[in-house]
Amino acid sequence: RIAGPCSVVLFGVTGDLARKKLMPAIYDLFHRGLLPPGFSLVGFARRDWEDQDFMQIVKESVKERARTGYDEEVWTNLADGIRFVQGTFDDASAFENLATTLKELEDSRGTEGNTAFYLSIPPGSFAQVCEQLETAGLTKPSEAKPDAWRRVVIEKPFGHDLESARELNAIVESVFPPDSIFRIDHYLGKETVQNILAFRFANQMFEPIWNNNHVDHVQITMAEDIGIGGRAGYYDGIGAARDVIQNHLLQLLAITAMEQPLTFDAKDLRTEKEKVLAAVKLPQDLAASTARGQYAEGWQGAEKVPGFLQEEGIKPDSQTETYAAVKLGINTRRWAGVPFYLRTGKRLGKRVTEIAVVFKNAVTPFDENQTEELGRNAIVIRVQPDEGVTMRFGSKIPGSNGFEVRDVTMDFGYGSAFTDSSPEAYERLILDVLLGDPPLFPRHEEVELSWKILDPIENFWASMDAQPDQYESGTWGPQSSDDMMARDGRHWRMP
Ligand code: BG6
Repeated sequence: RIAGPCSVVLFGVTGDLARKKLMPAIYDLFHRGLLPPGFSLVGFARRDWEDQDFMQIVKESVKERARTGYDEEVWTNLADGIRFVQGTFDDASAFENLATTLKELEDSRGTEGNTAFYLSIPPGSFAQVCEQLETAGLTKPSEAKPDAWRRVVIEKPFGHDLESARELNAIVESVFPPDSIFRIDHYLGKETVQNILAFRFANQMFEPIWNNNHVDHVQITMAEDIGIGGRAGYYDGIGAARDVIQNHLLQLLAITAMEQPLTFDAKDLRTEKEKVLAAVKLPQDLAASTARGQYAEGWQGAEKVPGFLQEEGIKPDSQTETYAAVKLGINTRRWAGVPFYLRTGKRLGKRVTEIAVVFKNAVTPFDENQTEELGRNAIVIRVQPDEGVTMRFGSKIPGSNGFEVRDVTMDFGYGSAFTDSSPEAYERLILDVLLGDPPLFPRHEEVELSWKILDPIENFWASMDAQPDQYESGTWGPQSSDDMMARDGRHWRMP
């Protein structure tokens, strides 16, 4: 589907996300013909820029990162609709200028007044921007175009804990109606994450074994090889659990564990995810069932990299974790007794996100000493970067006398099954905003349920008032995380 006439106003144009993801995604959508010809992009920032300067910034980011490749003609058409409004968030007149610019675009490019405000800014500024938009009369359609839509897109973090998430939500909902608010969790925009729904619910053969009769445990891993880069200001005091477990990993858990929704409408999908999140049970002993770490210096491939505490902008005694692992239970008939282990970290061995559903050991007549893991089947959903699904099972070694068996894998890879490269998560999500399609956006209940899961863990960690365990960069995290698994007689997979 193609978006109708509209414009996007981007707040936070000088940020990392805008340059690396949002601008290229908008261009890619335009290039694919999924945005209307009169589509317009307005940047709002403090910088003393003219339209041309902003255009140049967008162009550089497109040239560097656009998935569909730079095309002069496509660019010229897109650039025609690019404008810049200079101002600070506390300057009401700048928002009046924004209103004038949007009106001009309505007349010159036929945007019909349909506008999405994309807040890629620190959450501390959400309230102020929302209020300014309201004062400038931008949150509602004008009298001349009463059917126009106004939507707001907000980037995580949605608060710092349950309480701040509720406050934030109250502010945004006081200005925009709930169905005009699009909360971005970019993991939901990934093809491989949406494919979990197809894998589970478009097939007959997996669902009958997707439960505690057959599954021993589930491991959800989001490993990154990068450090915190230039994001010290955001990351210090936030840490790995708030940065990605509260959102991306709990969303993966919800999609992996939820019941089949009635339909894929937003309401049905969100309802099933929320049921799972509400059923998540924290372990009694948080010391034994969580781990946190901080990367020390080490080697990432051939590159020597500094430790977290030596990164620019990080307090030298920072207790922020760059690695977190937690064990969660799900109190439903399907999942009772099956632990879900979640782990994430920066500066780990390699970049990989996967969900491994590990099955109970089969009772077999084969010599159980043959391989340690024999008969322990697994289905691994490879979210990225090598997108696909792997199944592991035992197979007779050809030529062996008697019955020597070892584990083999069967692979589905996106690269070989599909010819086109997958769109970036942000392409899908931005298009959905412009189409007004909400299923892939968490509603505030989900956000709050996720904080309810994380808050006790964060409070427990804070109460320890201790430095997270150090791990060498380029390794697979702190020893305490392996110990956590070993206490349960299990171990982390080596992706
Ligand atoms: C973001 C986190 O949400 O996800 C970053 O804030 C992280 O810390 C990023 O690096 C990872 O995204 P992806 O799509 O590369 O896995």
